[in-house]
Amino acid sequence: MPGHQPIIVRIAQVGAGYWGRNLLRNFSAIPQAEVVWVCDTQEEAQKDAAANHPGIRTTGDIQDILADESVEGVIVATETPQHFLMAEAALRAGKHVFVEKPLAQTVDQAERLVALAEENDLRLMVGHLLLYHPAFRHVEELIGQNELGDIRYLYSTRVNLGIVRQRENAFESLAPHDLSIALAYIDSKPVAVAAQGSAYLQPNIEDVVFATVFFENGALAHVHTSWLDPHKIRKTTVVGSKLMAVIDDMEPSEKVRLYDKGAEVAEPSGYTGFAEAVSVRSGSIVIPKIENEEPLRSECEEFVASIVEQRRPHTDGRSGLAVVRLLEAARQSLEAGGARVDV
Ligand SMILES: NC(=O)c1ccc[n+]([C@@H]2O[C@H](COP(=O)([O-])OP(=O)(O)OC[C@H]3O[C@@H](n4cnc5c(N)ncnc54)[C@H](O)[C@@H]3O)[C@@H](O)[C@H]2O)c1
Repeated sequence: MPGHQPIIVRIAQVGAGYWGRNLLRNFSAIPQAEVVWVCDTQEEAQKDAAANHPGIRTTGDIQDILADESVEGVIVATETPQHFLMAEAALRAGKHVFVEKPLAQTVDQAERLVALAEENDLRLMVGHLLLYHPAFRHVEELIGQNELGDIRYLYSTRVNLGIVRQRENAFESLAPHDLSIALAYIDSKPVAVAAQGSAYLQPNIEDVVFATVFFENGALAHVHTSWLDPHKIRKTTVVGSKLMAVIDDMEPSEKVRLYDKGAEVAEPSGYTGFAEAVSVRSGSIVIPKIENEEPLRSECEEFVASIVEQRRPHTDGRSGLAVVRLLEAARQSLEAGGARVDV
């Protein structure tokens, strides 16, 4: 079309530390986006961003970004305690907002962000990265097609040595990923959380947490997180009534294995004992071929697309709020010595 200009979304990013650098690289590579500002209170981070992204403007004050009317989208990649203030300020300035996980530290904060975005017809997205991961998406699609049958329970292990955080515990830092997957895979309402953990390195900041989420239909999701562990494990096992799936993100290529395994208990009949009434099925193992796309690229593209297409992003504020509800219940459970806390 003569005179037709492609839409370019002008983006500013707040926080360009360890993870922010990855976001900056990905947003900068999207043809429909232009990252015009990077804001970081540390000069080193500003210098680094300027050196790697020529032409980008840098500042240490978010107000410079918010005052720039040409900026449409703001990326919040500061540490979790600042997510709420940064996101709220950006929404109030009329910007669409992408917030790294978790959306906020409390349910109250997350609800306020969701309301602010909805009242002002602004996009609010949270970085629930695994929902853009081809292996996790493949299993989500299979569950949607009822290939796994009813999801009975799942469990995830997300452990490593480091990164030790100072302002959130290992569960708050690592579990948002697994919780977002549990909520996507289990077609039921979470009703309670019980979490046990211990703090060894810093007072009141748990280095290891074992948490169980209870769902209305009886399904369970168990999440083990730690930054004080000799192994690097990123693994989720999903037990369905028809198939069982294992997603191992540390595997370089064959990340998903589908096990045709299960057990059923037949109606008792005649003189057969319980052992005879249980039939165990141990069939073949399938390793599906899955494209190796970078999840972070898909996630960044989704934010830009949601702005261009004026629609809700896939992982919107409400999905961020649902995860924060579980994080808050887990914190209360930890404080109550592992008691079951209603969500
Ligand atoms: N999706 C993932 O897999 C993943 C992985 C790691 C971290 N994260 C998330 O990314 C976020 C950042 O984590 P990180 O490891 O990069 O932390 P980080 O400490 O390395 O980076 C945070 C940056 O924010 C800057 N900052 C702090 N206050 C600021 C302010 N008021 N204005 C501007 N800049 C400010 C700091 O100077 C720092 O450079 C966290 O929310 C974390 O949960 C996500």
